[in-house]
Amino acid sequence: MLQRYGLAILCCGVALAVAWPIDAPASCFLLAVTVSSLVGGLGPGLLCAALSALAFDVLFLNRLLQPAFLPTDGLRVVVFLATALLVAGLLEVKRRAEEAGKRAEEDLREARDDLAQLSRMTAMGELTAFIAHEVNQPIAASVTNANACLRWLAGDPPNLEEARDATRSIVEAGTRASEIISRTRQFFKTGMPQRELVDMAEIIDGTIVLLTSEATRYAITIRTSLASGLPKFIADRVQLQQVMVNLITNSIDAMKDVAGARELVISSERTADREILVSVSDTGVGLPPKPTVQIFDAFVSTKRNGTGLGLAISRSIVQAHGGRLWATPNTPRGAVFQFTLAIEDEPLDQQL
Ligand SMILES: Nc1ncnc2c1ncn2[C@@H]1O[C@H](COP(=O)(O)OP(=O)(O)OP(=O)(O)O)[C@@H](O)[C@H]1O
Ligand SMILES: [Mg+2]
Repeated sequence: MLQRYGLAILCCGVALAVAWPIDAPASCFLLAVTVSSLVGGLGPGLLCAALSALAFDVLFLNRLLQPAFLPTDGLRVVVFLATALLVAGLLEVKRRAEEAGKRAEEDLREARDDLAQLSRMTAMGELTAFIAHEVNQPIAASVTNANACLRWLAGDPPNLEEARDATRSIVEAGTRASEIISRTRQFFKTGMPQRELVDMAEIIDGTIVLLTSEATRYAITIRTSLASGLPKFIADRVQLQQVMVNLITNSIDAMKDVAGARELVISSERTADREILVSVSDTGVGLPPKPTVQIFDAFVSTKRNGTGLGLAISRSIVQAHGGRLWATPNTPRGAVFQFTLAIEDEPLDQQL
């Protein structure tokens, strides 16, 4: 505070020192008022304006030597003071507008973070309810089969063939339950997003390396079309990789049994100032006919051993990153899954 007012006085002094020899008081003092207002704010700006007007009046209009009042001199001081006050006032208005803008932006970011957190929690709540329901079913089946198995074994002679079948069903149900739990745990484990600077191309390449042997096994060719020079952005690397794994695995599943070309194309591009679009397209069986199958809902699966969690988890991750995930049919066949990511959290050095 003291510093800011000190600066105003200093500016005034410097303006006086410069203005005196060249006899240009108005411009020098106005410059001093502008600097004081810009650096110090309204108070120092006004102080500088007052001091300048005084110096202008007393020293430059020779009021000390000629105390007689000249109307033109009075007018000069009034015009100077009005200009100085206007400059100080305008700069203050500009500063306040900037501050308000900054505050609004912060509020917006906070609100968006809250919303992402909220939608994530809602998704988790839904998942928990679904899991309870889904896991309950294989457990009940296991108990029924275990009881049956005991009965087959208690027979005289024991029916080993039936007992073996019942045991097999128990193993299947147990495997399914543990799969559901482990998929869900992945989701909860990465529940708190880690925020780091990530490169989408790197994440895509990493995922492809991970899944290439699986694709090759089914004679699927992978092609990428990644826009060069996409900016890095703040996100959760593991979660985004999880989305890519889910989408590519789905595409591979969809193409396993189709005749004809099996092609997986992954592309990334910048669609808007603050948005990246990633798309995964395949030439597989295509999307189930709408609207009977809501593929993005948890536990909706058309696969024998699918948990139906892949897309639900992926959509929730993408939404937590300020984006959207959707699917459209591919031509002439197959499906295209696309998601956007908000990249507004770029650190300063990336924006320059
Ligand atoms: N690329 C695709 N082509 C055609 N259908 C798809 C594709 N991806 C997803 N689907 C449909 O959406 C359903 C849900 O997919 P999701 O990934 O959520 O579960 P899942 O793949 O069945 O099970 P999991 O992911 O646990 O293996 C799939 O069962 C399938 O019917
Ligand atoms: Mg899946």
